[in-house]
Amino acid sequence: MRKTVTIVVIVGTMIVGGLLARTQDTEGQEHSAPVGQTASALSSELAALLSEEMLAIEEGLGELMTAIAAGNWPRVAETSENMERSYILAQRLTAEQFEELGRILPPRFKALDSAFHGSAGKLAQAARERDAELAVFHSYKLMEACVECHATYANTRFPGFGGEQTRHQHH
Ligand code: HEC
Repeated sequence: MRKTVTIVVIVGTMIVGGLLARTQDTEGQEHSAPVGQTASALSSELAALLSEEMLAIEEGLGELMTAIAAGNWPRVAETSENMERSYILAQRLTAEQFEELGRILPPRFKALDSAFHGSAGKLAQAARERDAELAVFHSYKLMEACVECHATYANTRFPGFGGEQTRHQHH
């Protein structure tokens, strides 16, 4: 459970970092970081934190799939609520780290991060309502958020997303 509580600290911090960035400057003039460069632009400390959090997210996603398949709604709700809310834990980062994230992360990244949190919240709601069909739908959206963000910002780490044809979107 400790793991699921810490899930998405980093992703959450990206939102907060984004807010800080907006108060500073760089509206519309962030340098479009080359795809796959986002993580390498972070300090090694933040990169390590990102990695740690992503591994926790991965574990959380696995737990969610198993729990949804089993109709274990309390478990689904708890895990996805943790994913949704974990940005609160962003407070564990130093002001310098917030600033670093805000400077580096592009708006698109923050939007994808937001979509990720949104889907987690909707999944939690579906679980509370014991609505299996809706839970499946929002778990799909959650997965889509992983894929979209990785395809755009982590395709060095995940070369399977290197091709243009994997990067179209439907909205
Ligand atoms: C808003 C962006 C974003 C979202 C959403 C996102 N990730 Fe990531 N993820 C990243 C970035 C950036 C990296 C780092 C890539 C690198 O190291 O170059 C990463 C790396 C990872 C890694 C590799 C960690 C390591 O160090 O080995 C895993 C596993 C992972 N993500 C799982 C997930 C899963 C599962 C989801 C969805 C439930 C998800 N991520 C959602 C941005 C995101």
